[in-house]
Amino acid sequence: MSEISYRALFDLTDKVAVVTGGAGILGQHFCAGLAESGAKVAVVDIMEEPARELAKELTERYAVSCLGIGCDVSQPISVASLVRQVVDEWGKIDILHNNAATKSDNLDEFFAPFEDYKLEEWRKIMSVNLDGMFLVAQAVGKQMVTQGTGGSIVQTSSIYGILAPDSRVYEGSYYLGRQINTPAVYSASKAGVIGLTTYLSAYWASQGIRVNSLVLGGVDSGQNTEFKERYSARVPLGRMAQATEVVSALLYLVSDASKYVTGQTLIVDGGLSAW
Ligand SMILES: NC(=O)c1ccc[n+]([C@@H]2O[C@H](COP(=O)([O-])OP(=O)(O)OC[C@H]3O[C@@H](n4cnc5c(N)ncnc54)[C@H](O)[C@@H]3O)[C@@H](O)[C@H]2O)c1
Repeated sequence: MSEISYRALFDLTDKVAVVTGGAGILGQHFCAGLAESGAKVAVVDIMEEPARELAKELTERYAVSCLGIGCDVSQPISVASLVRQVVDEWGKIDILHNNAATKSDNLDEFFAPFEDYKLEEWRKIMSVNLDGMFLVAQAVGKQMVTQGTGGSIVQTSSIYGILAPDSRVYEGSYYLGRQINTPAVYSASKAGVIGLTTYLSAYWASQGIRVNSLVLGGVDSGQNTEFKERYSARVPLGRMAQATEVVSALLYLVSDASKYVTGQTLIVDGGLSAW
């Protein structure tokens, strides 16, 4: 029998984690899961104040040092400053959760029909959802290579990066105060995230840096009943995910529990993609 403690494989004590989009609906849960597992967490978001507040709350609740950092992941200078702040504070980065995504500040343009979709809007979304992933992975990965002690990078994708959305799910579905859909730019950006992950997993494997995609199905977060029912009817487990249920998948991927796993796509969708 081996002497290994399987429980200890999930322990993140003394690890330094960076989470982009950390102040978002799911980001807050991801940051809490990492802090509860012992990691020092940099809560990174374009919304600086909520990021700082969350970091303060996590520091108090879990007795680990956390830091809130304002950063626009689509801007190289802002990303460079983020890495500098984390390294100045803790000397290293072991874990990156590349998680930020934007819904745009103009919902009419974001949810416009494909035939009328503006190139400007497409580029705006891509600049965060895909360019942002590239810039943060590049800057943090470079730091990990310099450290020479490996690392784990997890990038959040979506089922709509691997499946087409079923437009019938959105009939009568209101969210964010309006009728919604999933625009093509979201699907294309999330498919791009998986491609970037696969590439980087092979590129950095010899440096001991693992890179995986976390693909999420719909998470229960204030959608109306009509949407929840229509969506849930398509899911083998018969419901949307709870935010806490996607955190454990992240904790597996960032920890030594998944030490031999790289270049993979972990799909947490209640079985939606199984049939
Ligand atoms: N919620 C779901 O059902 C669901 C399903 C599949 C995938 N996802 C993915 O999970 C991730 C988190 O989603 P969420 O539901 O928490 O969304 P959210 O909108 O609540 O969080 C995204 C966060 O990213 C931040 N952000 C936006 N632009 C930024 C920028 N330029 N620089 C830095 N930060 C920026 C926002 O301020 C926000 O806090 C996203 O990648 C999303 O695409 C979510």
